[in-house]
Amino acid sequence: MTENMETKLNNLSIENPNDDEDIVDPWNVVSKSEKGIDYDKLIKKFGSSKIDSELLDRFEKVIKQKVHHFLRRGIVFSHRDLNSILNQYESGKPFYLYTGRGPSSSSMHLGHLVPFMFCKWLQDTFNVPLVIQLTDDEKCFWRNIQMEDAQQMAFENAKDIIAIGFDINKTFIFSDLNYMGQCPEFYQNVIRIQRCVTFNQVKGIFGFDDSTPIGKIAFPAIQATPALSTSFPHIFGKQKLPCLIPCAIDQDPYFRMTRDVTPRIGYQKPALLHSRFLPALQGAQTKMSSSDENSTIFLTDSAKKVKNKVNKHAFSGGQATVEEHREKGGNCDIDISFQYLSFFLEDDERLEQIKKDYSSGALLTGELKKILIDTITPIITRHQEARAKVTDELVRQFMTPRKLDL
Ligand code: TRP
Repeated sequence: MTENMETKLNNLSIENPNDDEDIVDPWNVVSKSEKGIDYDKLIKKFGSSKIDSELLDRFEKVIKQKVHHFLRRGIVFSHRDLNSILNQYESGKPFYLYTGRGPSSSSMHLGHLVPFMFCKWLQDTFNVPLVIQLTDDEKCFWRNIQMEDAQQMAFENAKDIIAIGFDINKTFIFSDLNYMGQCPEFYQNVIRIQRCVTFNQVKGIFGFDDSTPIGKIAFPAIQATPALSTSFPHIFGKQKLPCLIPCAIDQDPYFRMTRDVTPRIGYQKPALLHSRFLPALQGAQTKMSSSDENSTIFLTDSAKKVKNKVNKHAFSGGQATVEEHREKGGNCDIDISFQYLSFFLEDDERLEQIKKDYSSGALLTGELKKILIDTITPIITRHQEARAKVTDELVRQFMTPRKLDL
């Protein structure tokens, strides 16, 4: 895509979508369809590129191993400039990963794990440094919370992130509210970006208006800044390294803006990998969200709670009676248990068999739910055990500006 096209797309307002259109922006994810968001349409609307089998073949050739099942199954489904990162890696040149999280609650849920699990795979596969931005400042602008509480949530969320298994020698986690005061180079880059973006542009991208507090208006530059490697002088010195950002697709507006600005201030545009959302338990019209207890499996839920939530709330694509189900079969496209399995059951053959059996009616909804419970419970238990071992001291180590292994 040419630069001009990307700029034009930036000016596409996210407000007033057609009535039947999915809404996907950093604050809302809603679809009218039982099957959930139409991700192909989103690729067209955002102007990103679909991850096709040709790109996956190349990916596997370059890393000399199979790609993660999120890629194989289209859960990570879209990208910008991934080829340039693969070129970089192929020729033995360095790059880094950047991702983040807005700490909006102290306990994270299963959906939050998805981008971080993928990010860990990327870090292990490419053996590169990773910076993780905790936007406690963002949450002060968008939610009515005390700054101290936002900082505390960031600290608690860092524990969950560390529990996923990131390498301390290659990972720097930072809170905006702390790091911005520690690192002049970071704030200087914020200013470089803020000089380039007009109110009119962010209005178009984010739907801000005349009554939006100026903190919100200025915030997108802060989320853009970690895409400039010089924002981390303790890691990269003055080197300008290419950046790859794995994120959920709702964050793309921030990075369309970032990609507009970076060439104008002497940096390469960051590359992106976009993931889908984990749907809510009640159905794929919305994503899993901390604000709705029954739609959500928290990483703190007990095994019993997980079992009850799945059995009680997971929307079923099965038929009303056993007889009817045996005859007509279930619909995997709308069945939430099946969709969760496609995120968390790694075994491709087993997943394929489950799909066949559920679609034919050989497998009943209760049986499918049991498979799901048996699949996610160990993941959640493992997470809880790992998190319990993360001490405050370890969090402070991850969050201290320092040299990383390059
Ligand atoms: N705005 C994101 C959120 O609310 C947090 C975030 C900051 C982020 N930088 C990022 C997410 C980079 C993905 C990639 O969750």
